[in-house]
Amino acid sequence: MADSKATNITWHAHSVTRAEREATFKHRGCTIWMTGLSGSGKSTLANALDDALWKRGIRSYVLDGDNVRHGLNKDLGFSPADRTETIRRIGEVAKLFTDAGVINVTAFISPYREDRDRARSIQADGDFLEVYVRASVEACEGRDTKGLYAKARAGQIKEFTGISAPYEEPSAPEVVVDTETQSVEESLAVIVAYLEANGYLS
Ligand code: ADX
Repeated sequence: MADSKATNITWHAHSVTRAEREATFKHRGCTIWMTGLSGSGKSTLANALDDALWKRGIRSYVLDGDNVRHGLNKDLGFSPADRTETIRRIGEVAKLFTDAGVINVTAFISPYREDRDRARSIQADGDFLEVYVRASVEACEGRDTKGLYAKARAGQIKEFTGISAPYEEPSAPEVVVDTETQSVEESLAVIVAYLEANGYLS
């Protein structure tokens, strides 16, 4: 990615530090980056996690692909370059949420490994957790909750992930959930157990 276009810009230190925010919130900020095919269950799981965290008094927030495309990413489509820009923007937004002490959960297909790795690389070690929401194309197509796979098969949607555009599986995700074999509650429990075991919720 190119350097900043603007010149004469200065980085200002925040008066309220991340550490102070985290001390007040009594938990740290981090990004829980969910990746997987359309229909794999990312949004469902992200919202279930948000709900579970919120009920425990944790400052959490969901950034969802479909929703963000109504605003921040309104100008972007699904070409490889647009998907890369989608993930670059969300990676930056996620980093800001982490800095604000919030546990932010992102639900984007984010099909390219390199884009996800870049989003990881701009945060400190331990601040970015990749969760692979695994389900095969066959399973997602079988569900076809939004009717998009049928349209993609009919050629009405171009560059559809899993059908006519690639999805690159994570090589070393912190957590893998399998929504073909697990219920939402079971997948949720796996993620919460990881967060607890690694000190994210205290
Ligand atoms: S990403 O690839 O850029 O990360 P994102 O998560 O923002 O994708 O948006 C994916 C959602 O957009 C899908 O769940 C689906 O509802 C919709 N969508 C529309 N066109 C496509 C397409 N060509 N490929 C994948 N998803 C699409």
